[in-house]
Amino acid sequence: MKITIIGTGYVGLVTGACLAEFGHHITCMDKDTSKISALQDGQIPIYEPGLDELVRKNSRDGRLSFTTNLAESVANASAIFIAVGTPSSRRGDGYADLTYIYAAAKELAQHLKGYTVIIDKSTVPVGTAKQVSRLIQETNPDADFDMVSNPEFLREGAAISDFQRPDRIVIGAESVKAQAVMKEIYDPLYLISTPFVFTGLESAELIKYAANAFLAIKISFINEMANLCEQVGADVVDLAKGVGLDGRIGSKFLHPGPGFGGSCFPKDTIALLRTAQEHGVPARSVEAAVEINASQKAGMVKKIRDALGGDVVGKTIGVLGLTFKPETDDLRDSPALSILPPLLEKGAKIQVHDPQGMKEAEQLFPEFTYTDNSYEAATDADALVLMTEWNQYRALDLEKIKSLMKQPLFIDLRNVYSPDKMKNKGFVYVGVGRK
Ligand code: UGA
Repeated sequence: MKITIIGTGYVGLVTGACLAEFGHHITCMDKDTSKISALQDGQIPIYEPGLDELVRKNSRDGRLSFTTNLAESVANASAIFIAVGTPSSRRGDGYADLTYIYAAAKELAQHLKGYTVIIDKSTVPVGTAKQVSRLIQETNPDADFDMVSNPEFLREGAAISDFQRPDRIVIGAESVKAQAVMKEIYDPLYLISTPFVFTGLESAELIKYAANAFLAIKISFINEMANLCEQVGADVVDLAKGVGLDGRIGSKFLHPGPGFGGSCFPKDTIALLRTAQEHGVPARSVEAAVEINASQKAGMVKKIRDALGGDVVGKTIGVLGLTFKPETDDLRDSPALSILPPLLEKGAKIQVHDPQGMKEAEQLFPEFTYTDNSYEAATDADALVLMTEWNQYRALDLEKIKSLMKQPLFIDLRNVYSPDKMKNKGFVYVGVGRK
């Protein structure tokens, strides 16, 4: 099938490359000429494991191409995915900014030819698909199209495998014809028995927010339990295991840490709260998850300061990891961005390492010292903070780390290491929710 993807951000690019791999003919369209020419040269603007390979392979095989020409790419397509950004609105009120979606809808409407399915893949508040549909109709009353909402559940760092082996595909569609087109698009997943959930437009839109909000609630819940564990002498890792093995609860997303970050949970929980407010429906559990997350990040600043005796003036803090999670170069809403600046302001010297996030961090925090590896980050440090659980930080040469540090204080905000083992190796060990 000939498919056009509008927007070559994270979602658009992964969707385009993976659908090309399914055998479709994909045109990825973006207005950003420098981005498109870089993609035409095989340069991928984001770090996502496996994506560059997939883009290069499918471009070479002629199934994936990149263009800035909206008119042509729209006219030729049987299906069009809208995957433009929906950042938090510039008004700072938590609403998702739909400017790009509406602009794309109006523009593509003028170029539609023949029956086309228009699929909203961006994360958008309930009612957006209907609004987009109205806009297209108003702009081009003769257009023959159906609107579909097809939210994505990809995790950064694991997006390719999530796309190829998803837990489910959610399709909000209001005609059998559109459902049939969607089935054809995802045919390879149908064949491996992926569950398909067919709903109306509004349900599909809300499923996306509800899924992210539920996961955020789960994380905030375990973070609260971690804080309680610290006070009563329990171990949250044991607690999470004991609780998570209950099949009704599940063990995933029960890892305590410095709070959730990234481009999705923080933005989507707030956007869901705004929608609930607008409709006069309380969403207290989501509200609590957001509040707990803010205090969790603040709590990490206190944890580090307390471990250093309450005062960080003149102290050197080594930091391993800056991105909001491993296997990404994404710093958006990363807990590190909330935890490190207050320590810097209080007079600490911050020396950091991150496998992918340092280039962007250098722009945001020129005051940090950027190092080439974990050991440089530990050198002369009064404390070493493990902020993001990159694999390369899971097998540190602890003897070497200890010998390089000013004092062996290891603050493990991801509970990667065992407290007992660390103590046996001579470290003062501080985890999250552990003795
Ligand atoms: C999340 C969802 O997991 C995806 O399903 C969804 O498609 C995506 O948002 C989106 O809306 O686009 P992502 O933000 O890439 O994916 O990353 P996650 O793996 O979900 O992690 C989010 C944050 O939660 C990270 O800061 C991570 O460190 C934190 N987290 C996760 C925990 O603190 N504990 C956990 O147990 C799990």
